[in-house]
Amino acid sequence: MDPAFRGLSDLRGVKSAIGTDVSYAAELLRSGSIVAIPTETVYGLAANAFDEAAVLKVFEAKQRPSFDPLIVHIAEREQVLRVVKEFPSGTRELMDAFWPGPLTLVLPKRTEVPDLVTSGLDTVGVRMPAHPLAQELLHTLDFPLAAPSANPFGYVSPTTAQHVADQLGDRIPYILDGGPCSVGVESTIVGWEDGRWVLYRPGGISVEWIEEIIGRVSIAAMKILPAAPGMLESHYAPRKPLHVGDVAALMRQHPNARVGVISFRARYDAHRCEVLSPNGDLTEAARHLFAALRVLDTSDCAVILAEVFPEEGLGCAINDRLRRAAVR
Ligand code: TXA
Ligand code: MG
Repeated sequence: MDPAFRGLSDLRGVKSAIGTDVSYAAELLRSGSIVAIPTETVYGLAANAFDEAAVLKVFEAKQRPSFDPLIVHIAEREQVLRVVKEFPSGTRELMDAFWPGPLTLVLPKRTEVPDLVTSGLDTVGVRMPAHPLAQELLHTLDFPLAAPSANPFGYVSPTTAQHVADQLGDRIPYILDGGPCSVGVESTIVGWEDGRWVLYRPGGISVEWIEEIIGRVSIAAMKILPAAPGMLESHYAPRKPLHVGDVAALMRQHPNARVGVISFRARYDAHRCEVLSPNGDLTEAARHLFAALRVLDTSDCAVILAEVFPEEGLGCAINDRLRRAAVR
């Protein structure tokens, strides 16, 4: 494929290639293209964070509203200096404890970061991903990558290269295949507001671990425009109706429907049942959550029912995603 093409229109109808060629991915990104990349959380749709025209293609491909800012991915801790201008107390400790890994910090941005990336906010979300292929790619490049999750806006995030191809396959020249994501839910997002750390989105690093490093973290208040992500009420949503709660009771409410169940460790006698972790491990359950939602969404089930998970560790992120996925 010609890495020099520019607009999305050149791509319609063309299926993206899937492969493990990091230099090809780098070449495309240098020439202003978008590329889907693996991270340990979910697959991202990446562009040169300093190239506004390239970043615009990410918004177009995802059909993402421009008020929803992107996360900037960096190769090394030192690179944070290229995008962030102030480091509130606790920043170094958080970076040392959790980078590389699924923690995004929202911090005052440098003017070099295009407004398109941050939706005009004076802060930027930044993280250093832990996935080996993402790291190799970022080290090859001399710019950071702006990347949201590689799904159409509002839909379930992708945790395999095939998930990306299924939905955005005709809009992306290349999908870098790093296998199934090891964390499976998006990064935890914390920001510094009015002199304290605030949680914008629960995710791959539990709040308990963060509080061990910097003490109490506040929960972000909902604003008129979402300050963060998946702070949008309805998000991560399958197409089929999803109800979250006491699954046995919900099954009685749907006696005649083909029901698909998402459970933690128990198997229900339903038409389909996706057990996320038979051993009761919340980290494993998080890894399997989005794939299970996709499987049931594309199955012959009419309705999806999900348990409420234990509200601890990665269970908080699982419950957050299920709750938002259930909002219509
Ligand atoms: O794990 C992840 O974070 C994945 C991988 C690809 O890194 N990315 C991801 O991106 O989940 P996305 O765009 O689906 O969600 C990121 C959220 C956005 O919805 C946005 O609202 C929030 O991060 N965000 C980014 N910059 C922000 C800022 N300056 N202030 C508040 N929220 C911000
Ligand atoms: Mg997303």
